[in-house]
Amino acid sequence: MDRRLPTTVAQHILEQQRLRYPGASGEFSWLLSGITLATKIIAAEVRRAGLNGRLGGTGEINVQGEEVQGFDIFANEALLQCLQYRGNIGMLASEENEKPVVVLEKPGAGKYIVIFDPLDGSSNLDLNVSVGTIFSILRCDPEGSEASDPILQPGRCQVAAGYVLYGSSTMLVYTTGDGVHGFTLDPSIGAYVMSHPNIRMPERGSLYSVNEANADGFPEYCRRFLHWLKSGEDGTVYSSRYIGSLVADFHRTLLRGGIFMYPPTGRYAQGKLRLMYEANPIAFLAEQAGGEASDGRGRILDIQPEALHQRTPLFVGSKHEMERLHTFARKPAAV
Ligand code: AHG
Ligand code: MN
Ligand code: MN
Repeated sequence: MDRRLPTTVAQHILEQQRLRYPGASGEFSWLLSGITLATKIIAAEVRRAGLNGRLGGTGEINVQGEEVQGFDIFANEALLQCLQYRGNIGMLASEENEKPVVVLEKPGAGKYIVIFDPLDGSSNLDLNVSVGTIFSILRCDPEGSEASDPILQPGRCQVAAGYVLYGSSTMLVYTTGDGVHGFTLDPSIGAYVMSHPNIRMPERGSLYSVNEANADGFPEYCRRFLHWLKSGEDGTVYSSRYIGSLVADFHRTLLRGGIFMYPPTGRYAQGKLRLMYEANPIAFLAEQAGGEASDGRGRILDIQPEALHQRTPLFVGSKHEMERLHTFARKPAAV
């Protein structure tokens, strides 16, 4: 009986490299194994959240102006520890660190830059709601880049991106530009095992996801689009789902289709989500799965970053809903 061993993420990334970069040195898979190790450590702690005294805020305010949660620090340390000794990373940048961490001083010594949101949705952890880790991988010296700051590359330069969702199961979803693939952590063998090969986002959906409490502060075209979603005009009766953890809200959109939105609001005129370690990796995954991601005007992946922690509006989802949104964005408000 041919009982094929399950495909682990380590095998998958090596197969992807052999197919796409025959001369690859395996460095990338070694880097990715640093991320998978860190997220296994985070998953083990998240599963015991009520028992290890890490819940709740620390009282410190981070560069985002938000209260740092105990788990933000733990997850951040796990990623920094597991990645800074990989030997091929030039720089690490995190939501929780104001400045990037330069790992290899000698210019050109490190091939990659890893940017991450160590714990996304962390304020939900006390409530036992799904949270996640989001990562984005760039080259230190992208071909022909004159960027003054090697980190400030548009999202289309990403060589890989993904997230880990600490939900009812722990799932890693990633892309290297050759489709989107999902792996479920099998605690009995401690490995991420392929469970969702070649994930494709449905062409259209029946769910929309937005924090409607902020609707009065949305741009006018957003409010018209929201009204359209509820009107049933195109024959779809949409339902609303909003978890408040980007990774969980996006994972559902990736699998079921529809649209997730974090528009500009009264409090966040540029939107709340961060371009480099939330919107860019999510946008790369969405496009690789056949969906779209924009800031309401243009493609997220074409935005030229000006600062590591800059925020952006994010609209991401199925082609059908995204095209409809852009129709409203282009149409001037009725006078
Ligand atoms: P983080 O915990 O990394 O700061 O991210 C929280 C983000 C994102 O996960 C989610 O989509 C958004 O905050 C929810 O914001 P609101 O509570 O304003 O809806
Ligand atoms: Mn986040
Ligand atoms: Mn975070």
